[in-house]
Amino acid sequence: MELKKNKILVTGGLGFIGSHTVVELQQEGYEVIIIDDLSNTRIEVLEGITEITGIRPEYVQLDLKEKEAVVRFFKDNTIDGVIHFAASKAVGESVEDPLKYYENNISTLVYLLKSMIENNVPHLIFSSSCTVYGQADELPITENAPVKRAESPYGNTKQMGEEIIEDATKVEAISAIALRYFNPIGSHESALIGELPIGVPQNLIPFVTQSAAGLRGELSVFGDDYPTPDGTAVRDYIHVVDLAKAHICALQRLLKKDNKSKMEYFNVGTGTGSSVLDVVNAFQKVNQTALQYKIVDRREGDITAAYADTTLANQELGWKAELGLDEALSSAWKWQLKQQ
Ligand code: UD1
Repeated sequence: MELKKNKILVTGGLGFIGSHTVVELQQEGYEVIIIDDLSNTRIEVLEGITEITGIRPEYVQLDLKEKEAVVRFFKDNTIDGVIHFAASKAVGESVEDPLKYYENNISTLVYLLKSMIENNVPHLIFSSSCTVYGQADELPITENAPVKRAESPYGNTKQMGEEIIEDATKVEAISAIALRYFNPIGSHESALIGELPIGVPQNLIPFVTQSAAGLRGELSVFGDDYPTPDGTAVRDYIHVVDLAKAHICALQRLLKKDNKSKMEYFNVGTGTGSSVLDVVNAFQKVNQTALQYKIVDRREGDITAAYADTTLANQELGWKAELGLDEALSSAWKWQLKQQ
């Protein structure tokens, strides 16, 4: 007799991190159902996932803001756990249109939680961000670092999201894990899925790859007067495949009831900080490709340095990043070259 597979709902499963997580879930034997409204991705991602895994995940085009549709979806489907990626993520846009962010990221989370509770779906993994720490006072950043006032409505939705979920877990039959991502980059080694920024990329690596490909002008390095070794800002760039795997570990922890409290928080990073110039140099070296750049003023709202202390994730989730910056930059370039 074949054992019943756990069925996992992945919201935003056609997005950058979502699609890589769907691949890992399917390769681990989970049955996946994706909800995505295609607001910031393309339906072709479904073909990429299918080609990599040989399994076509179930997919429902659904906007989580449509409360009635969400209620119906949960009535029609038996789900064992939810990995919730669906959210808007452009920091600048969130400052221009805060209510869009509160509606897209917060209203939807409330509908999702209510539906989960009504239908006895007990497990939730939430996409949070190291942005909750702001500029931490101590590096590397542990999960005990205080959450600082958010710099943007986007960042605020991550903080509020964590609080809403934690409050719900106190009184409802739900257990949750918030994964606080550092800077996710790279793509699946097949280059069949990857990051698909719409318009001019705001994040460093998509700008770097598009610039090197001749699709954009030279890279602007935002500031070289930070108090860091080379003056440029430092981040913890984590390969998206490693990040995807952290979701599997978190999910297994909940399914096996290994969690120590109903709401847990884990940093997901490599533990290594790289400056913008480290990235520029590594990109050119690994890919044997020239990259033009100029130093410009700092970008408003940017912090000096952030990298993770990953001890808790290592010990409790049994997870550790296996891939480094070079591998991530090489996969990002391979993906970029396939886009042309
Ligand atoms: C940003 C968000 C963060 C969000 C994350 C999602 C801010 C302040 N933070 O992180 O909340 O979770 O994206 O991926 O916006 N850089 C350049 N030139 C560029 C682009 C970036 O020098 O053209 C620099 C930035 O100044 C920064 C580093 O590269 O030091 C990384 O930038 P980015 O990829 O945008 O990520 P974060 O700003 O760290």
